Amino acid sequence: MRTVEWHDGRVRMIDQRKLPWELVLVDYDDYRDVAQAITDMVIRGAPAIGAAAGFGMALAAFQCPANDKQEMLRYLEEAAALMKKARPTAVNLMWAVDRLLSVAARDDLSTPDEVREAMLAEAQKLADEDVAINKRMGEYGATLIKDGDTILHHCNTGALATVDWGTALGVIRTAHRQGKRIHVLLDETRPRLQGARLSAWELKQEGIPFDIIADNAAGHFMRTGQVNIVLVGSDRTAANGDVANKIGTYKLAVVAKENGIPFYPVVPTSTIDLNLASGDEIPIEERSPDEVRAPFGYAIVPDDYPARNPAFDVTPHRYVTGIVTENGIVYPPFDINLRRAVEGTLHEPR
Ligand code: MRU
Repeated sequence: MRTVEWHDGRVRMIDQRKLPWELVLVDYDDYRDVAQAITDMVIRGAPAIGAAAGFGMALAAFQCPANDKQEMLRYLEEAAALMKKARPTAVNLMWAVDRLLSVAARDDLSTPDEVREAMLAEAQKLADEDVAINKRMGEYGATLIKDGDTILHHCNTGALATVDWGTALGVIRTAHRQGKRIHVLLDETRPRLQGARLSAWELKQEGIPFDIIADNAAGHFMRTGQVNIVLVGSDRTAANGDVANKIGTYKLAVVAKENGIPFYPVVPTSTIDLNLASGDEIPIEERSPDEVRAPFGYAIVPDDYPARNPAFDVTPHRYVTGIVTENGIVYPPFDINLRRAVEGTLHEPR
């Protein structure tokens, strides 16, 4: 089952807020509800957000009552603006919306019906490509994993964070299917617990041995020699190799370096933002303090206690050993080699 798909003229997705207790599918027939679902984290994870936005834009085209193309483009521009506001950090959202808009603007499409069909085909292509890209990253990344390794992992980067397979968790899945005996330490990932709820759910289905650990325990496991490699995802990676990812990633990277443990983000090129020179320019989402005070409605403290809730942090590239992409593993100097990975020329002699 895919995390998000087009089903009978609607956008269907797994409601990730309900896992691991219940597997619930939700169908949307209004693009505004798709945008809201992204904001509310019914669907989350950078590539999954991108795919949902792609289908959401196709849905907008089918909802649009316009009879001529110019009128339709104006409607789609409005839909795009709303969709892009759903969450700020994962660049896949803006990338997918722009990709769908550029299809709509194609000169060879003259009627609204032609635009609708072409946009749906593009959204489907984007989703299919995501799965293929993850499998390629899985093959590259698995070369870093040795038989017997213990891998430390943060947040959820699996099938649920993508259309299927996963980024960092996709590497773990590939290594496991190659027959490598691995063990995974899953950071629970406060405050929304994507590691404990979602990554554990996925690894259990796949039969990959794991332990959930409190986020605070990661340093202990690294210092005491119980971690061989750290694998994480990214929501946006800047041109210099600075990596924005789920809050807490930065601490992991610093402690990994201190202990001589390799730290690899697994990042499709759709998550690399070459327009941003460094991670300082990446917008960091700050979510409701209620997620800290009362995770999933369970009040830890009174609701008038002040709290802060940045959803992401930036790991400076000096802590990054390498970045796994679908076009190969990128090593420093990142400012040169990331661009090559995006262009698909990483392995070509220059
Ligand atoms: O807030 P989320 O759950 O959308 O954050 C997700 C992550 O930070 C993932 O690690 C990231 O999207 C990359 S993995 C596909």
